[in-house]
Amino acid sequence: MDEIRVSRRAALMGAGAVMAWVASPARALLQAVGEVPVPANVERLIGQMTLEEKAGQLSLMPSAWGGGAALSLNPASAGPNFQQQVEEARRGQLTGVFNGNGATMAKILQTAAVRESRLKIPLIFAADVIHGHRTIFPVPLAEVASFEPDLARRTAEAAAFEAAGAGIDWTFSPMVDIARDQRWGRGVEGGGEDVLLGKIFAAARVHGFQGTDLKSTERVLSCIKHFAAYGGAESGLDYNVVDVSERTLREIYLQPYKAGVDAGALSVMASFNELSGVPATGNHWLQTEVLRGEWGFKGFVVSDYTGDEEMIAGGFAKDGRDAARIAFLAGVDMSMTSGLYRKYLPELVRGGAVPQAQLDQSVRRVLALKAMLGLFDDPFRRIDVKRESARSMLPKTRALARESGRKSIVLLKNDGDLLPLPRSGKRIAIIGPFASGLHDLVGPWVVYGDDAKSVDLATGVRNAIADKNSLLIAQGSNVEEPLAGGIEAAVTAARQADVVLLAIGESQGMSGEAQSRTEIVVPAPQQALAEAVAATGKPIVVILKHGRALAIEGAVANAQAILATWFLGTETGNSIADVLFGAYSPSGRLPASFPLRSGQQPYYYAHKPTGRPNPGKTLEPYKAHFRGIPNAALYPFGHGLTYGKIDYAGLALSAQAFPRNGEISVSATITNRGKYAAEEVVQLYTHQRTASITRPVRELKAFRKITLAPGQSETVRFTLRAADLAFVGRDNKWTTEPGAFDVWIAPSAESDGVHGQFELTA
Ligand code: NOJ
Repeated sequence: MDEIRVSRRAALMGAGAVMAWVASPARALLQAVGEVPVPANVERLIGQMTLEEKAGQLSLMPSAWGGGAALSLNPASAGPNFQQQVEEARRGQLTGVFNGNGATMAKILQTAAVRESRLKIPLIFAADVIHGHRTIFPVPLAEVASFEPDLARRTAEAAAFEAAGAGIDWTFSPMVDIARDQRWGRGVEGGGEDVLLGKIFAAARVHGFQGTDLKSTERVLSCIKHFAAYGGAESGLDYNVVDVSERTLREIYLQPYKAGVDAGALSVMASFNELSGVPATGNHWLQTEVLRGEWGFKGFVVSDYTGDEEMIAGGFAKDGRDAARIAFLAGVDMSMTSGLYRKYLPELVRGGAVPQAQLDQSVRRVLALKAMLGLFDDPFRRIDVKRESARSMLPKTRALARESGRKSIVLLKNDGDLLPLPRSGKRIAIIGPFASGLHDLVGPWVVYGDDAKSVDLATGVRNAIADKNSLLIAQGSNVEEPLAGGIEAAVTAARQADVVLLAIGESQGMSGEAQSRTEIVVPAPQQALAEAVAATGKPIVVILKHGRALAIEGAVANAQAILATWFLGTETGNSIADVLFGAYSPSGRLPASFPLRSGQQPYYYAHKPTGRPNPGKTLEPYKAHFRGIPNAALYPFGHGLTYGKIDYAGLALSAQAFPRNGEISVSATITNRGKYAAEEVVQLYTHQRTASITRPVRELKAFRKITLAPGQSETVRFTLRAADLAFVGRDNKWTTEPGAFDVWIAPSAESDGVHGQFELTA
């Protein structure tokens, strides 16, 4: 039985990844969740409920307590509509609220529901706990750069611990939308451009949030979002149309959602976008046939925020009544925010447009999940004001934030081994809008975290250097506007320094929901700052802040050293300092390719070949390249340097060919010839040369993160089976085809590493 499960996961993840998975604690959770038992009291309640009460159980509302951001513990300020929301709880018109404000608020609402409503059904409290609750970890895209799924499991677990302590039962996370267009601002919340990485991190995060027992007061229900293909928006414009073939949908976009469902996620959020003409929220094929029919999903589906109502503007529903009918019949069990379900479902059932049995089934799913979360046993199990503050930002959680922060940093470039810097003896100038100040630390998508409780770059550097007073700081520029006198002051500081840390990039408002950009560059005033500082001739370490892969140019690209540092959360400054001064040898790898220019978007490494490829750097006429630049990345997916000097050699294959029911092992010897210890992410890529469906130029099939002391070598071996080489064929079903394959073990998706070939035989 165990063997079958492992080989099922092999099909899901790729064999090398399975090896890592097998060794991980998360594997023990594989059989833990996925089924939803329906207790007798749920059936009894369904028998007693009115149509209005049933529609109420399918209606989720934003919390009316204090509005949006919930920044401090239990502030005593209810919004003007809070009393009305309490009344809705009393009347059974509400299944729960989201993004509320802690245990005090939850206690008032839950008391109204379980003591004062007719049927005493508990509420569920949801929230966007995306990358931490109070302690904020790196944005999800950054954390994927660690290539360490167990790190994501651990940070999700820590987020669940804090959130469950604050009365939260359910998180709208993880977002697992594959994002191949960096203009799309929401890629910051996901797993990057790659399918394998996306699947593995989706599963890890679900395990971290949910654990093995949803009744635990340290765990929360996880929600896979946004189903489906939200990241495929045309031109990277948020909410825009997605139009992809069913084949591509199945082979690329659907994979991480499927991995999340297989990992036991028991809620799914329908996406805003339309998919080939049909909005996801009104798409029966997607929400019912694929999700439940093919994948066996047993939890419930929630709409995104007014996603049902938005089908009216989207030209798919006539009015609110129609939108509620379409979304519900498509398989969206619960409506978020619009209130359309509680307004229209009762009359839709009475009029025969919606079958009563289907309404009952959705209510059953929601109540069964509430039971699984232990809410019928003790509706107050996660609501405890004292526990909320006792769990908030504990030293061990902050330590995890620092660890995950430094593991998320990618060293893009390190000419002349400028890094690591010595802790003393060099005068450092930190220049740029992100040099200091408690802003732009936690990232664009945080409800409960707080920049003011975080460590900025200057503080982190000061903590690490010997002479705390030697630091020079100059803002130089605003993020998107010049700063009067800023460049002059920055140049003066640079001239006095031995080395410049240039902290530039995007503010947290420049990525995230609804923040698509046409040019994914460092904003012009900061580029001007970089050029002026570079003209001083001082060595520069660029410390990029960003929610997406950027197209860097000029003085930024030409700096001696470049660190991609994203938004690292609570411990930002300390994590960056750990890398700068060598307490940690950087190990992150890009989860999204840094293109040469913005206009290449969507650029991703696993693109298809064309009939006129031009893979080399020399541009040939009438070949697939842009005017003046190749169709390649400046820093591709998988790229990242260490403080070691890593060498790849000795590709060895266990055979030249293997049959469909067999396997092949591929190995290479990785050596650290440098003087610092290093963690290397060894990556296995394949390419099928000819097939009935053209195959990407490379696809990641497995990876392993290894530690090498100076002078140490390790032979890394991966096992490939036919399932790892499968693709979705013309009939939209998974298949493998015999044929010739290229294989690489390499340090990135566009580096040669070591290369060989093998055959898959019939
Ligand atoms: C809209 C976002 O798309 C979704 O991800 C989020 O969970 C909801 N708003 C609720 O805040």
